[in-house]
Amino acid sequence: MLEKSKKRVPFIVGNWKMHKTAAETREYIDHLSPLVFNLSIKVGLAVPYTDLFTAAEAAIDSNILIGAQNVSDVQEGALTGEISAPMIAETGADFVIIGHSERRRLFHETGESIHRKIKLALQSKLQIIFCIGESKEQREHSLADTTVKKQLYEGLKGITASEMKSIFIAYEPVWAIGNNQAADPVVVEKIHHLCHNYLANDLGLPAENIQILYGGSVNAQNAKNYLTLPSVQGLLVGGASLDVQTFVEIIYQAEKGLK
Ligand code: PGA
Repeated sequence: MLEKSKKRVPFIVGNWKMHKTAAETREYIDHLSPLVFNLSIKVGLAVPYTDLFTAAEAAIDSNILIGAQNVSDVQEGALTGEISAPMIAETGADFVIIGHSERRRLFHETGESIHRKIKLALQSKLQIIFCIGESKEQREHSLADTTVKKQLYEGLKGITASEMKSIFIAYEPVWAIGNNQAADPVVVEKIHHLCHNYLANDLGLPAENIQILYGGSVNAQNAKNYLTLPSVQGLLVGGASLDVQTFVEIIYQAEKGLK
């Protein structure tokens, strides 16, 4: 099963979180574009909402995909401060991150709301990076497996095989995010296998449509540890993507792995 999905090219995505203005975004992408122009792997940048138009424009004619970091769970309405999927699509963005642990934890997003976001993003033809991952407490109580299965079920129940082609899963254990304590590759491989098996056997999704990324304190030094794992088909990189040179080092390692 993993053999088949291995054919998909790695997707290396920077998640800037709440960093960079539009001017800084343009400068970054102008710098990055020529450096990644001829690569076979996929490169993405998830930028703040206010940078989306600038980023999409700067990335035209490059092979960098642009994404948002969140989306509203309703299509339109009296919801001050929210941004809908059609609004994101209209900026020229290609994808959206949904269910990031910072959204789940700090903004109280539920499985139901995340599922609605996924459906609406699909309707607007956006690709999706759907984040899952257990907390430190859940891991300590041996609840990592049940937590990720529950998150997969809640987010993806009823999703068809064809819709799944637009969805990437990002396994990001909460305890490994933003703290230089990247997960042990053995742990990552185990959870990625669990996800593949659950998606294929319990949710009936074809293995070739399942692509799983790892995220959590990835940097230029440890990226290779994950990229060489058979079940890891991309990386979601937070802090280390803010510096273009560091991000490029990670991207080049993924490209090299393809050769
Ligand atoms: P980090 O963030 O690489 O800074 O740990 C990853 C993420 O939250 O997507």
